[in-house]
Amino acid sequence: MLKNNIIIVTGGAGSGIGHGLSIALAEHHATVLIIEKDVLLMNKLVKKLRSKGRKAEGYECDIANGAQVNSTVKAILKKHKRVDGLVNSAGVGLIRPPAKCTDEEYNRIMSIDLYGTFALCRAVIPSMIRQKRGSIVNISSIHGARTCANYGVYAAAKSGVEGLTRGLAAHYGANGIRVNAIQPGLVDGAQTRRIVAQFTKNVPKFMHDFTHNRQCLDHLIQPREIGEAAAFLLSDRSQSITGATIPVDAGLLTLITSKN
Ligand SMILES: NC(=O)c1ccc[n+]([C@@H]2O[C@H](COP(=O)([O-])OP(=O)(O)OC[C@H]3O[C@@H](n4cnc5c(N)ncnc54)[C@H](O)[C@@H]3O)[C@@H](O)[C@H]2O)c1
Repeated sequence: MLKNNIIIVTGGAGSGIGHGLSIALAEHHATVLIIEKDVLLMNKLVKKLRSKGRKAEGYECDIANGAQVNSTVKAILKKHKRVDGLVNSAGVGLIRPPAKCTDEEYNRIMSIDLYGTFALCRAVIPSMIRQKRGSIVNISSIHGARTCANYGVYAAAKSGVEGLTRGLAAHYGANGIRVNAIQPGLVDGAQTRRIVAQFTKNVPKFMHDFTHNRQCLDHLIQPREIGEAAAFLLSDRSQSITGATIPVDAGLLTLITSKN
């Protein structure tokens, strides 16, 4: 679906969604440019993708730092001359009663999840305007739509990402740029398991009960599935879809009560 496309993926070396995104997009024949803070993970994944004949490059960058984002995108444009797609996936979570959240915690989540997404969009959009085409996919969360206790600040950041998505879609549609968001549900991965371990001793049981009782589909979503949804949104097959926020949540948002 993405042959000859140059696509940036932030947080693309993560052990969860980032990883699944990079693999799926590379297997759809995109050249995947991974923007990461974790250089070791990034180099490992780039090597793995190249060994399978896929096209991948790594760029070390902290997306919370606007100057680093600008210089990284400048280097990418110097080398590749264009960027066809951008996936903003790098993000961190926070489980904390909102009134107990410190300024430091609040600023960390806002600067990575929301500002980082904004900074990347701001850096790539001028080149997409010149090309008269481009597709941006922002990884939000089900917490952009509904939330629960302890997730207020994370929900605020992801709601911001969704508002930004709509605002960019409205402003740059005339330039041929599409902007959409994906709301993943509970997705398997090391970061998810670390977060779940904060409130239960039995992580596998929690994951089993959650998928069984709280979702329409009794299925633990795999990171690769978020990559497949992103590949569709990045490709011309979704040419009339913009400003949308699409849940990939096995039906979690559909249920108003647990099944059992
Ligand atoms: N895992 C889930 O169940 C889930 C559910 C809903 C939404 N999400 C969202 O999906 C995205 C990926 O989450 P994940 O849990 O799969 O994590 P992940 O395993 O993909 O890891 C995130 C990656 O982001 C990178 N990163 C963090 N801060 C960075 C920074 N400042 N600059 C550059 N890179 C940085 C990390 O090094 C890591 O590789 C996040 O935006 C998260 O909010 C995840």
